[in-house]
Amino acid sequence: MASLSGKRIVLGVTGGIAAYKSAELTRLLVKAGAMVDVVLTEAGARFVGATTFQALSGRPVWTSLWDERMPNAMAHIDLTRGADLLLVVPATANFLVKLVHGMADDLLSTLCLARPRAGVDGALRDCPLFVAPAMNRQMWESPATQRNVTQLRDDGLHILGPGSGDQACGEMGDGRMLEAAEIFAALEASLCPKLLARKRVLLTAGPTFEALDPVRGLTNSSSGKMGFALARACAEAGAEVTLVAGPVTQTTPAGVTRIDVTSALQMRDAVLANLGGQNVFIAVAAVADYRPAAPADHKIKKSGQPLSIELVPNPDILAEVASRSDAPFCVGFAAESRNLAEYAEGKRKAKNLALVVGNLVQDGLGGDINAVTLFDAAGAHPLPAAEKLEVARGIVAHIASMLATR
Ligand code: PMT
Repeated sequence: MASLSGKRIVLGVTGGIAAYKSAELTRLLVKAGAMVDVVLTEAGARFVGATTFQALSGRPVWTSLWDERMPNAMAHIDLTRGADLLLVVPATANFLVKLVHGMADDLLSTLCLARPRAGVDGALRDCPLFVAPAMNRQMWESPATQRNVTQLRDDGLHILGPGSGDQACGEMGDGRMLEAAEIFAALEASLCPKLLARKRVLLTAGPTFEALDPVRGLTNSSSGKMGFALARACAEAGAEVTLVAGPVTQTTPAGVTRIDVTSALQMRDAVLANLGGQNVFIAVAAVADYRPAAPADHKIKKSGQPLSIELVPNPDILAEVASRSDAPFCVGFAAESRNLAEYAEGKRKAKNLALVVGNLVQDGLGGDINAVTLFDAAGAHPLPAAEKLEVARGIVAHIASMLATR
């Protein structure tokens, strides 16, 4: 499981306006149970003071090579000994230059140069270095910065972002530092075992919306949270992920290709168009079983009389995919209000699925927590109630173990 709990992290902060996001990142890391040592450059300290980081991390903050608090005056070496991750958030264009050339003219750049790398000078394990660039778009796009970033990637550093959008200078474009939550998610993902490496996974998520007229329709209260959590867990596990999403407001997980659809027919078309080459298909969507036979072209007017609407069945996307001769490994979901084991197992057999994830609607629909039971040919495997991302990681581990024995 990906967990930052108990990890020792050194967080370097250089001089950019995005430094305020590092304070939030510190909070997230500490909340997750990590121990965070913050190292400020002189310029970084101009944007957010040491007191803020000290309060958020609950630990001393380091700024100088000559700090006398380290008994052997070796802060530049000792801080990363035994550390699990070294981060530079934000990293200015100038700091990237220092990293490229191995400059060591302050505590943070010296720490980066001296970070342990497995097999080098007897180090048993890596202390990977993650860098989140933040700068004006022209600085980011300049050939010099692009050359530097390419070099740093070649040197094995992990470059996070940057994103695109409004910049502190008033301009708009690439170079904006990722949000703290995005950086946190990337760090968690880096710790996940790559159980689905070289696998391609296609998922559906969310509800569908079946139009009655231009303003009304039939839908359900699926939020998309379970499907998006599973897409993220698959991506964290190293899979190439395509997510066909009904109308939801969820944020697309990093590295996931998202296709938005509205109706069941559109969802089916998108799934079939993207099915080629997929190793796994996971149907999380709560697809409407029926749609209005003839949606009205104009808004249906109130008449005071009873109104009957003819419904016709929608195609069953999962059953159609699973019945193909070239079907990928198919995983279905079953949301039931009672008799979970009986109905879920019934769906598994009826649709010829390797695995069905059963949940009670009162547990799974809409909320942040879910409790599921996995049904496969070997029996029922309950997973404890947890945040949907945690549950999703458990489902991914089960899928990976089934794939490994096929
Ligand atoms: O989105 P959330 O708020 O996080 O909620 C998550 C969830 C409760 C929607 C999810 O965990 C879940 O259980 N999804 C399946 C919902 C369901 O009841 O499916 P079903 O029993 O109608 O269908 C069984 C399976 O066939 C499902 O995998 C479904 O995606 C698939 N199906 C169903 C009908 C259809 N026309 N096409 C399909 O592919």
